[in-house]
Amino acid sequence: MPTYLDQNKDRFLSELLDWLRIPSVSADPKFKGDVLKAADFLKTRLEEAGVENVELCQTAGYPIVYGDKIIDPSLPTVLVYGHYDVQPADPYELWTSPPFEPVIKDEKIYARGACDDKGQVYMHVKAFEMMSQDGGVPCNVKFMIEGEEEVGSNNLGIFVKANKEKLKANVILISDTGMLSNDVPSIEVGLRGLSYHEVEVTGPNRDLHSGIYGGAVPNPINVLCQMIASLHDENNHITIAGFYDNVDELSAEERAEMAKAPHSDEDFKKSIGLKDIHGEKGYSTIERTSIRPTLDVNGIWGGYTGEGAKTVIASKAYAKISMRLVPHQTSAEITQKFQEHFQKIAPQGVTVKVTPHHGGEPVVTPTDSVAYQAAAKAIEATYGKKPVPTRGGGSIPIVAMFKSELGLDTVLLGFGLDSDAIHSPNEHFGVFNFFKGIETIPHFYRNYVAASR
Ligand code: BES
Ligand code: MN
Ligand code: MN
Repeated sequence: MPTYLDQNKDRFLSELLDWLRIPSVSADPKFKGDVLKAADFLKTRLEEAGVENVELCQTAGYPIVYGDKIIDPSLPTVLVYGHYDVQPADPYELWTSPPFEPVIKDEKIYARGACDDKGQVYMHVKAFEMMSQDGGVPCNVKFMIEGEEEVGSNNLGIFVKANKEKLKANVILISDTGMLSNDVPSIEVGLRGLSYHEVEVTGPNRDLHSGIYGGAVPNPINVLCQMIASLHDENNHITIAGFYDNVDELSAEERAEMAKAPHSDEDFKKSIGLKDIHGEKGYSTIERTSIRPTLDVNGIWGGYTGEGAKTVIASKAYAKISMRLVPHQTSAEITQKFQEHFQKIAPQGVTVKVTPHHGGEPVVTPTDSVAYQAAAKAIEATYGKKPVPTRGGGSIPIVAMFKSELGLDTVLLGFGLDSDAIHSPNEHFGVFNFFKGIETIPHFYRNYVAASR
């Protein structure tokens, strides 16, 4: 007999495509109306799915979409978190189809937000609808879907602190991460933290003719490049004083366990068009992208970048620099160390301004909890294989606060793949993954309720 999912696949997909058509880019004020529209769209879809008390909770920024279904206070409560905002889509010219005109090609949904995170949030909406149609949800469910994850979740942090009673739950469930592959299902059990800065180096008080002044004055762009280059040593260790002081070093056993996860440096190189890999000496690719802290320049600008050549020494140079953090570094500690270090390495003759942006704390989630076991069993039921626990490299800033403010652990039940190109041109999400998510989520609820009794 065809299941409810089988019967409604086309509709589920076309509803998601409608949502993806709304360009909910939180970083760019130009899209304000669309971000609000995407929130409204979600509110309506949650109501249609049978969620109750759906409301837009206003913040100083974009609203948080909240809704719940309390079937019995004596049963456990799952709080589903996700985000309806997306990353900017530029550079547009690198997309093979426009980012906000979703299309399905080769069994994949192509659009900004297809995987991160609208596609994954929508799996939860449809899983809820499906359960409602088939006997109802087996426990209490709360939804809290925000519109500012991609810009640091500051207002959600305030909301969480102010609404502890409303958000009372037993566990947080999030689909906003990935798996190793569709053949090797996995569950992320860690997220890195973040410390993000904008730096400005000022040299002369105006732009100068590079022939008249060049060679005799500090060129802020040259200086900034030297400063940035000095942040790593020849072994690709980060040179900021005290940077590694609190880094949790894994035991040889833990590292051996990690090394069992299927990974090929050859495939890794091929997938992103590299001739060779690069990273901190003494660590594997998997370790470099999960349990080790990193420092990267995200953007750098200054001087003349237009057509042709202009002989100029710019007055100012800029860069955006971020660090991924691991337990037990904190964003406050690293932000301070970075600021001090960056001032210290500035040569005399330039002034340096460091402006911190949003931060986030690293987390490791338990694997011995009832909720993790419920998720592992759910995946085993739908993928036919036990999932491998993996430490993820990305960040979801609110997760550490769920623990510190609400006392709640999180299960990262993610269905994306590294190859989905999130944050890049041509972001996509497998149709297979979307439906697998919808199929797996109800198993999680049933397993969790059964094990909590
Ligand atoms: N969903 C991602 C985080 C992620 C992706 C975790 C893949 C694990 C695997 C999230 O939307 C994201 O992009 N977070 C930002 C942090 C934020 C403060 C901008 C990130 O990791 O850069
Ligand atoms: Mn995300
Ligand atoms: Mn993201």
